[in-house]
Amino acid sequence: MAPEPEPGPRAEDLSGARILLTGASAGIGAALAPLLAGRGATLALCGRDPGKLDAVAARCRELGAEVTTHAVDLADPAAAEELARSVERAGGGLDVIVNNAGAPMRRRVPGLTVDELRRTMATNFESPARMTMAVLPGMLARDRGVVVNVSSFGGRAAIPAEAAYCASKFALCGWSESLAMDLWHSGVRVHLVVPGAIATDIWDRPGNDPAHFSGELEPPGTVAGAIVALVDGTDGRFEVYVPDLSSIAEFKTAAIEDFLAGAVAFADAAEAEAGGAGTGGTG
Ligand SMILES: NC(=O)c1ccc[n+]([C@@H]2O[C@H](COP(=O)([O-])OP(=O)(O)OC[C@H]3O[C@@H](n4cnc5c(N)ncnc54)[C@H](OP(=O)(O)O)[C@@H]3O)[C@@H](O)[C@H]2O)c1
Repeated sequence: MAPEPEPGPRAEDLSGARILLTGASAGIGAALAPLLAGRGATLALCGRDPGKLDAVAARCRELGAEVTTHAVDLADPAAAEELARSVERAGGGLDVIVNNAGAPMRRRVPGLTVDELRRTMATNFESPARMTMAVLPGMLARDRGVVVNVSSFGGRAAIPAEAAYCASKFALCGWSESLAMDLWHSGVRVHLVVPGAIATDIWDRPGNDPAHFSGELEPPGTVAGAIVALVDGTDGRFEVYVPDLSSIAEFKTAAIEDFLAGAVAFADAAEAEAGGAGTGGTG
């Protein structure tokens, strides 16, 4: 007789799960929201552009989800924290927070302004950290919850001409590692998502130097699918690279001088090909 198949990981039921998703108006977040809606989650969607948020919300409602939209600029961490508190209050608690919103900053440090540095750190690090801190007491009181932080490959291995962006994403990685340790004995799970180059608007956002990277881009749905698996518990890993560029991060740790020299050579070649000077890197 054939052996019984091993039971696979069981997906947690997401129907009625109260989920706060930032960066829902475009890219990865806009791909993720309908996937969560289709699983029956109740969604609070955050972005800046109310029109784009409404369009994503309409798709989610067609799938039967209860949805609220929140147009908030996460470059203001106090407003971000207040948003998290009010969503939690209005929903009678929060089961999942997906800190996905993020803004690029492709600028070499000699041309970077203090305001660009401040906005990038606020949007990509301080706001997700403060939003998590705002909802954590409720999750810990119920001994249940999921925190998903979307960092970047640039948060594990730096990219030329993106010091502010990489600093903000490194900060989010370090924060997530330590947070996972602090919550280890609780029922609150922490996950870190490390996207590589994904086909979204991030490459064309105004106020950035042109990108160096011109290779193939992964569809945003691939990252969105990976996040669903973390939220529903079918993927229990702390950290997920999409695509899997972990070997490059490992190479960087093992051979930092070679990594720096290789990254500079890559940036120089991209700039020579573009015929310009002093431009930027990847998303
Ligand atoms: N695409 C990539 O290659 C790549 C690679 C590594 C990591 N990531 C990370 O993946 C996450 C999602 O990015 P994406 O690729 O989907 O980019 P995207 O298409 O540009 O979307 C970014 C999302 O974040 C929101 N957002 C940006 N700044 C905000 C602010 N100050 N306040 C509120 N919302 C803000 C945007 O809202 P509005 O459109 O309404 O302004 C949008 O919904 C980001 O954290 C990004 O750093 C992306």
